Amino acid sequence: MTPLRVAVLISGNGSNLQALIDAAADGTLGGDICVVVSNRAEAFGLERARQAGIPAHVIEHRAFADRVAFDRALLDLLQGYAPELVALAGFMRVLGSEFVARYAGRILNVHPSLLPAFPGLDTHERALHARVEEHGASIHFVTEALDAGPVIVQGKVTVSDGDTAETLAERVHGVEHRIYPAAVAWYAQQRLVCRDGRAWFDGSPLEEPKIL
Ligand code: GAR
Repeated sequence: MTPLRVAVLISGNGSNLQALIDAAADGTLGGDICVVVSNRAEAFGLERARQAGIPAHVIEHRAFADRVAFDRALLDLLQGYAPELVALAGFMRVLGSEFVARYAGRILNVHPSLLPAFPGLDTHERALHARVEEHGASIHFVTEALDAGPVIVQGKVTVSDGDTAETLAERVHGVEHRIYPAAVAWYAQQRLVCRDGRAWFDGSPLEEPKIL
């Protein structure tokens, strides 16, 4: 099978990007990262991409009048790399309907909570405030609704009394680095598809997210 062409969108540190780069390098991803795009010039993930010999681009969202114009610039850039999958890895921009429609069923996101709990920002603080016993990370297909597309796989951490947002973030990151490459590999192997607004795995709709 030819390796899946994966575009990765980032905004910051890029530790999830690094997990995908490492999995591509050791052959477990089933894909190659063909391009990395950041909406912030200072994102350290750009350096990780360059170190790995992956084309790295910046499209500053601030340079565009609105979301539609930014999304179009992103679409134009990506078109030249012909990605089959777009992986959002700490990409802190909401993608609009035109972008989502162009890559319908072919966009994945990693989110630092056990969705549908805590969509949006500050998930670790909110998990602590809510005194949940379990927290974690989710990989989901992206739809127009923020953090609400079909969830594919989750990994859990147990919340302890002494946890802070920082300690939780660190453990959740560890989970993300495990489950994101796995989800991309399933997609590359065509075990995972998004159809009729649902995630399908090995030919059956997922009733519950898989747990890794
Ligand atoms: C990750 O924890 C990811 O789940 C989160 O940003 C972090 C990026 O870390 N994404 C979101 O909150 C998306 N709404 P990284 O840059 O080190 O991969």
